[in-house]
Amino acid sequence: MALITGASTGIGRITARDLAARGHTVVTVSRASGRGARVADEIRRETGGDVHHLGFDLSLVAESRAMVAAFRERWARLDTLLLNAGAYVGRRRETAEGIEFTWALNHLGVFVPAVLLVDLLVASAPARVVVTSSNAAMAGRMHWDDLERRRYDGMGAYAQSKLANQLFTVAFARRLAGTGVSVHAMHPGFVATEFGGDAGWLTPLVRLAQRTFGRTPEQGADTLTYLATDPVALASTGGYWIDRRQRPMAPVAREGDAAERLWALSEAQAALSDAELAPLRALERG
Ligand SMILES: NC(=O)c1ccc[n+]([C@@H]2O[C@H](COP(=O)([O-])OP(=O)(O)OC[C@H]3O[C@@H](n4cnc5c(N)ncnc54)[C@H](OP(=O)(O)O)[C@@H]3O)[C@@H](O)[C@H]2O)c1
Repeated sequence: MALITGASTGIGRITARDLAARGHTVVTVSRASGRGARVADEIRRETGGDVHHLGFDLSLVAESRAMVAAFRERWARLDTLLLNAGAYVGRRRETAEGIEFTWALNHLGVFVPAVLLVDLLVASAPARVVVTSSNAAMAGRMHWDDLERRRYDGMGAYAQSKLANQLFTVAFARRLAGTGVSVHAMHPGFVATEFGGDAGWLTPLVRLAQRTFGRTPEQGADTLTYLATDPVALASTGGYWIDRRQRPMAPVAREGDAAERLWALSEAQAALSDAELAPLRALERG
């Protein structure tokens, strides 16, 4: 039983199709305004698989909550959670909840669904969580006093959010140690997808680079599908993967207390209730 975010296009779409073809029930999540429902129908027709779509905007905490509620209404198990939706945005903007968009989608759109689904994952173990990070994290810096980047530059905001994906992976894996739920982050390579469509003046350059050097979405999705399906992902936790091999995360994710600092900040920012945090607290108490 797999839930994958950002599967209406790009690498998520390829992994969703592969999982459906292998017989997994697949639930895809992307914005209701996008192509997600139509693409889920296409994947169902192509594979004969059991594929469903939930239309929610994961840049909004309220919609992440609603997505999880909609999922729980219909399914009682979840052994594969793939947190893949993400974007690069050239110009700063805020969501209707007043949160800078890159941070809201790329980090909170990972953190909130994961926390709200943790009890289902544990009950469904062995289970796995995979976050699509990026090697852009290596150039990232956590601006602790300005995570929402009031002095915005798209590259800096994106790199920080992908570094946050790695910190999230470390902290979530720590909390899930011993439960049979593994948590990993991965980098898909530079892939010719719809990524970069909102990059402003950079978009034509991104498209040129994608055409010239970009991997195909199939190549980009390979490691995500591998981690979603291969027993190797269950044999360890807290890893960062590129081309099916474990690689070191960015130094800040490997040292000090950055992962815990981000976790505490994220709980506060998402304003999750005590009831929503109760399964997590139970895990933290051991
Ligand atoms: N392409 C690359 O070179 C590259 C490199 C490193 C890492 N990555 C990462 O790989 C992941 C997938 O990217 P991709 O290259 O496959 O890009 P993509 O083709 O642009 O796909 C992005 C997916 O995210 C969904 N999405 C966007 N905004 C959303 C929102 N607010 N709520 C819910 N879903 C939303 C999109 O669906 P809708 O638009 O239909 O909502 C789409 O399904 C991202 O996290 C990206 O940062 C990509």
